[in-house]
Amino acid sequence: MAEKLVLAYSGGLDTSVAVRWIQENYGYDVVTLTANLGNVDNLSEIRQRALESGAVGAHVADVRDEFIREFVFPALKANALYQGVYPVATALGRPLIARLMVEAARQEGATAVAHGCTGKGNDQVRLDVSVGALAPDLKVVAPAREWGMTRVEEIAYAKEHEIPVPSTLEKPYSTDDNLWGRSIEAGVLEDAWREPPENAYEWTVAPHEAPDEPRYVELQFEEGLPIALDGAEMEPVDLVETLSKIGGEHGVGRIDHIEDRLVGIKSREIYEAPAATILIHAHKALEGMVLTKDQVRFGETVSREYAQLVYDGLWFSQLREDLQAYVDSSQRAVTGAVRVKLHKGHATVVGRKSDYALYQHALATYDEGDVFDQSASPGFIHLWGLPIRTQARVRPEE
Ligand code: ARG
Repeated sequence: MAEKLVLAYSGGLDTSVAVRWIQENYGYDVVTLTANLGNVDNLSEIRQRALESGAVGAHVADVRDEFIREFVFPALKANALYQGVYPVATALGRPLIARLMVEAARQEGATAVAHGCTGKGNDQVRLDVSVGALAPDLKVVAPAREWGMTRVEEIAYAKEHEIPVPSTLEKPYSTDDNLWGRSIEAGVLEDAWREPPENAYEWTVAPHEAPDEPRYVELQFEEGLPIALDGAEMEPVDLVETLSKIGGEHGVGRIDHIEDRLVGIKSREIYEAPAATILIHAHKALEGMVLTKDQVRFGETVSREYAQLVYDGLWFSQLREDLQAYVDSSQRAVTGAVRVKLHKGHATVVGRKSDYALYQHALATYDEGDVFDQSASPGFIHLWGLPIRTQARVRPEE
């Protein structure tokens, strides 16, 4: 009896071809696994296609809730943005997919897993490394790294093996999406000088075509996580989906970035991430109200390191877990509300309030009710400037 392998299966051309290719070249019985992270609405059709492509079994799972609660929201608390701009949407999805692959492999008694990533990207690294972290005994097969087929050859292979070819073949871009964002690469986007054509975008309207009237959203946070939108409490998936739609209608969340991949390549990446953009802005604004300046500064360092680890496929590393523990603890006072104005591509924080605000009107005001003691300032400044005055006195002549 052949050994079993679990293949992460999207239902696209690459993974449909991979089912048969793995059987032919490695001799495994292939079981597929398809997960909905907000990007798949026809799980049962995909399951059917997997079986028609030659899979001996097909697992499907709607994991939107787990994705948001266990991966996206922890990263939101850390304000995770790779290179300061990319909300690491795809990077957050991979460890979850790896975990599902490992779970399916255990259920099936499989000895290997496989994915359709090429050898040029980040996702192969994330999946391989994450599977290794959870199940170092499983072998990982990546046919698209090995087979060297062009797109045309893949189609020919599919026809020859009577594999149903998906209808959505002639797409001008390579895309990936989940609830936290959409990534668009390749085609004309590879010309870094050229503005992305409108047809690259699916979630956002062009900012200049967005409504003239601004839309205000009020977000309620509790310990660093959003729990209500415009006064209505919402489940995480619902809140992110709704905010994504509203943001998209106002052209919010388009990102155009020259990104440093793990494998040393710089690539031109376009993203649409309306919900992530709004939530990270709002979350940071609330932190600014309730954290001390030292917490804010240290948080920026943690945020950068955290985003780098997630991008680099090290979600399951102990360092990411330890940073998470700091981040989670730092959120104890991040409770309050933020008002964000969405207008023609911009998401601007225009209001914030919290019971734990360190912003105190009585200390800040220049008007009536000021409690700040200005007579303490000269003494403070005298000591603050002591080192630099001392240095000025003993400094050698230039
Ligand atoms: N560059 C992003 C990342 O590495 C997105 C990659 C998504 N893949 C795609 N085929 N568009 O996380």
